[in-house]
Amino acid sequence: MSRKPRTDHSEKRGEIAIQAHGLVKRFKTGRTFVEVLKGVDFDARHGDVTMVMGPSGSGKSTLVAALSGLLKPEEGQVRALEAADLWKLSPTRIDRFRLDHCGFIFQGFNLFPALNAKQQVMTALHYQGVPKGEAHQRALQALEEVGLTPKMNQKPSEMSGGEKQRVAIARALAKNPNLIFADEPTSALDGENGQVVIRLLRRAATERGAAVICVTHDPRLEAYADRVIHIEDGRILDDVRRTPDANPAPLSH
Ligand SMILES: Nc1ncnc2c1ncn2[C@@H]1O[C@H](COP(=O)(O)OP(=O)(O)OP(=O)(O)O)[C@@H](O)[C@H]1O
Ligand SMILES: [Mg+2]
Repeated sequence: MSRKPRTDHSEKRGEIAIQAHGLVKRFKTGRTFVEVLKGVDFDARHGDVTMVMGPSGSGKSTLVAALSGLLKPEEGQVRALEAADLWKLSPTRIDRFRLDHCGFIFQGFNLFPALNAKQQVMTALHYQGVPKGEAHQRALQALEEVGLTPKMNQKPSEMSGGEKQRVAIARALAKNPNLIFADEPTSALDGENGQVVIRLLRRAATERGAAVICVTHDPRLEAYADRVIHIEDGRILDDVRRTPDANPAPLSH
């Protein structure tokens, strides 16, 4: 069996890509435990942009971390693609799952300080087993899509916050992942670049069949969503399916 992951998942559109049951996450602070996820059920489908909204501290980033194999919940299961229970896999296999199937766009950018923009994207593809020539082409294309061709030889220390965020986005999208986890992907961007990013996420879902899970505070991004889930104090408050707007109003700030 080829190890190289498939990059087009459009035939799976509408199927459940990830499904969680009864997620409970507690953090110890001092001598007490604080329950941050209080029995969360969640699912997301291929081809959908699923938005997760809620106040600061409500558990959104914790939920994404539990869904994506980054932070083990105390209770509950996560069925993700072919993995019946992600958290029953060995740490090595969880790492492999993330590498092969997930793209991450996080609040912190998690870039390598020593690498320039092109190398950041190519390195992610290299770990995935993509040959060098193809990795180079895909990196150039992904950087062009986020408007960073002129900065492709610059390192994170030589880039603005918004530029770094766009490198992280190019790196995540170049992999053509099954699952894209975006945590406030537009928070460091101006209106125009925010728009570029949300459109790329929309396209990854529509054209490639990725399941995009996008945490945001920004109500203007709702226009791009197939589904909006509100979370408050570690619980899902509501879950609404909608049709993405055909012509969303431009973002401006
Ligand atoms: N490692 C940790 N140890 C203790 N408490 C934590 C830890 N990580 C998160 N928390 C707490 O869990 C709660 C939820 O955090 P989380 O980061 O999931 O919130 P969020 O909804 O993503 O908020 P924001 O919109 O500000 O990013 C917060 O009250 C936070 O203080
Ligand atoms: Mg957060």
